[in-house]
Amino acid sequence: MKRYRRIFPVIISAGILAAALSGCSGNGGDSKQIVRIGHNQATDHPTNIALLEFEKYIEGELGDKYDIEIYPSELLGSQTDMVQLTQTGAVDFCVASNSILETFSENYTLFNLPYLFSSADAYHEAMDDPEIVDPIFESTKQAGFEAVTWIDAGTRNFYTVSVPVETPQDLKGLKIRVQQSPTNVRMMDLLGGSATPMGFGEVYTALQSKVIDGAENNEMALTSNGHGDVCKYYSYDMHQMIPDILIGNCAFMDALSEDEREIFEEGFKLINSVEREEWVKAVEVAKDKAENQQGVHFLYPDTKPFQETCKSMHTEMLESYPDLKPIYDRIQMHNEQHQTEEE
Ligand code: GCU
Repeated sequence: MKRYRRIFPVIISAGILAAALSGCSGNGGDSKQIVRIGHNQATDHPTNIALLEFEKYIEGELGDKYDIEIYPSELLGSQTDMVQLTQTGAVDFCVASNSILETFSENYTLFNLPYLFSSADAYHEAMDDPEIVDPIFESTKQAGFEAVTWIDAGTRNFYTVSVPVETPQDLKGLKIRVQQSPTNVRMMDLLGGSATPMGFGEVYTALQSKVIDGAENNEMALTSNGHGDVCKYYSYDMHQMIPDILIGNCAFMDALSEDEREIFEEGFKLINSVEREEWVKAVEVAKDKAENQQGVHFLYPDTKPFQETCKSMHTEMLESYPDLKPIYDRIQMHNEQHQTEEE
């Protein structure tokens, strides 16, 4: 289905929404099972484009049984709301930042570490490595959901209304919005800024009303979310490469027949490949628009001082979660391979 309906204009409680979202489409014996997928990006964002391809593919293969409905732009609430709805089964799938998932399973902490990956190639290769992602993706089953694929969300960098950030010292005294995860708050504390956790949908107004001095995200936030209308400095300190994760309700996944599951798995792969292809193009367009239409200045500081400041977080994480050490080490293997290739 291609129509978008704003079910509720504001964030609503999981309970009310669960009641509102139950049911099937169609009439009488002809009814199909509605599969709801929520996310927080705009309709022209690579995530939405990829999900539309998924819809086309699944309905092409299993259209007599399933009706895929995609809800973009936080129509189903914030990411945290959507994860809760996916846990209960009121929503079948949603896209959540890996940052948010850290509060549901501590294993996800790993991918939120600053400067975990040495390059975008190492990041992509690590996220494509089942020995790295499978143990983490399967670790939330007891919480009612499982991760079915990852989605590229580029590199996160700081951007501010009026202060060019060239070194960590420049962040001192600035209120910077971070995602609602303990790792992000810790990172900001170490870097000297004042961490202000809030949902993605609240950031534009907070910037505009000067509740915060800046935020951190990929380039798409400047254009797709309009942050570049307010923030004039975007600084490539490259602090994190945090994937988005498509999660599915366990009861829904378990009810699929073997053949259906195979088709859905193909669909998940399609989401990953389409989004990654669209991402590269979208970031280029976003940078051009930000620079030439919104007047954003892109800065390229030395990333080493930022990296040094956050370094202790790696040891802290490994001390807190020793079980993650083998996965962390395997990521280092990908990092080293890419360092060698790049030298
Ligand atoms: C990116 C990411 C989203 C996330 C957002 C945020 O846009 O793709 O999943 O919600 O950052 O900073 O909250």
